[in-house]
Amino acid sequence: MTTIPTAYRLASRLDDVGFSDIVNIRNRIMKLREQGARVYQFEGGEPYMNTPEVVKEAMIRALAENKTRYAPSSGIPELREAIAEKLRLKNKIPAQPSDVMVCNGGMQGLFGAFQSVVNRDEEVLVFSPFWTPIKDLIAHCEGKAILVPTSEAREHGFEKTLAHYSTDRTRAIYYNTPQNPTGIVFNRDEAQSVSRFAQERDLIVIADEAYEDLIYDEEHFSIASIEGMFERTITVFTLSKTYAMTGWRIGYTVAQEPWMTGLRKTTLYSSNGVSTPTQWAALAAMTIESDTLESNRREYKQRRDLLWAGLNELGLNCELPAGAFYAFPDVSRVNSDSRKAAETLLERAQVATVPGVVFGKHGESHLRFSFSTSVENIEAGLDSLRRNL
Ligand SMILES: Cc1ncc(COP(=O)(O)O)c(C=O)c1O
Repeated sequence: MTTIPTAYRLASRLDDVGFSDIVNIRNRIMKLREQGARVYQFEGGEPYMNTPEVVKEAMIRALAENKTRYAPSSGIPELREAIAEKLRLKNKIPAQPSDVMVCNGGMQGLFGAFQSVVNRDEEVLVFSPFWTPIKDLIAHCEGKAILVPTSEAREHGFEKTLAHYSTDRTRAIYYNTPQNPTGIVFNRDEAQSVSRFAQERDLIVIADEAYEDLIYDEEHFSIASIEGMFERTITVFTLSKTYAMTGWRIGYTVAQEPWMTGLRKTTLYSSNGVSTPTQWAALAAMTIESDTLESNRREYKQRRDLLWAGLNELGLNCELPAGAFYAFPDVSRVNSDSRKAAETLLERAQVATVPGVVFGKHGESHLRFSFSTSVENIEAGLDSLRRNL
């Protein structure tokens, strides 16, 4: 008789931490391509453009100058200074360099934020549909994500809806704007409502502003800029989307104590900071003129308008995404099971998307299409849907 070695078991803390389904979709696409099929890809989640030359040049310079040694794990002072200035001017968050922590992309910032705030069995209110890893980041704290339908909050009022989903275990609110996967942008009034609720109930806000520069019809508004909110908010930013730097793994958080201590500890004992030359490259990114960001935004807007109009024409109705680079149409006309709908689009029209249910139960009967792709791909994909759906 063979005995199962009991030592070979994963720490139970990781039991409820999952992996993203998006990996399975990528594997399916690779297989189709191997079979020689042309796949119109809309499933991605990153900028279609390349990292700006000034950033790459700064990296090369940093290497040539041997800026390759340990840096402070919170980040090099020059970068923290530049970030704090940007936060004051652009986000109206009254940050000092000591409130800034450089991290390995938004993901590490979010990891540190949840780890710093959430205890076992505590609950986090998450507007839903939501970016999938959030549930796993909360599970990693042995906490629980409580899904708050964004549509319900918009229909019935934010404070009333948040109150409905709160319990005496509620500890925090995850506040993502612009949102992945819906492209929804929370406006100033909505931020004010969430902030009133957080202050009244003494909750912490974890704000995720990864797409702050990809916003088309409205203005980005940082919840931490509201009076009384900076001290109860950890805001997470990334260079991934704004500067097409997804593979560089750099972002930053802004917060006050005691959160900074938590963020410092989680970074120190995981990556011990971001690679030093990458930080010098990030400093160059921070100097890119707002005109360039504006012109990028126009490029995305053109793609958004094209995809949105085409999807609605096909009866795949969706609201105009106000931000990020995703359209999130209702596909019940194809199949209200979003996994099956995604499969149908892939099989019949070679159009790859992400099933909405991946983003939580409120995403069911929708598909996520990214418009961060070439105009030619959008036109060809829509054409294939017209012919084959
Ligand atoms: C809503 C949201 N937040 C944060 C991130 C983190 O991005 P990164 O870790 O590349 O900075 C992403 C990436 O897709 C995202 O969609």
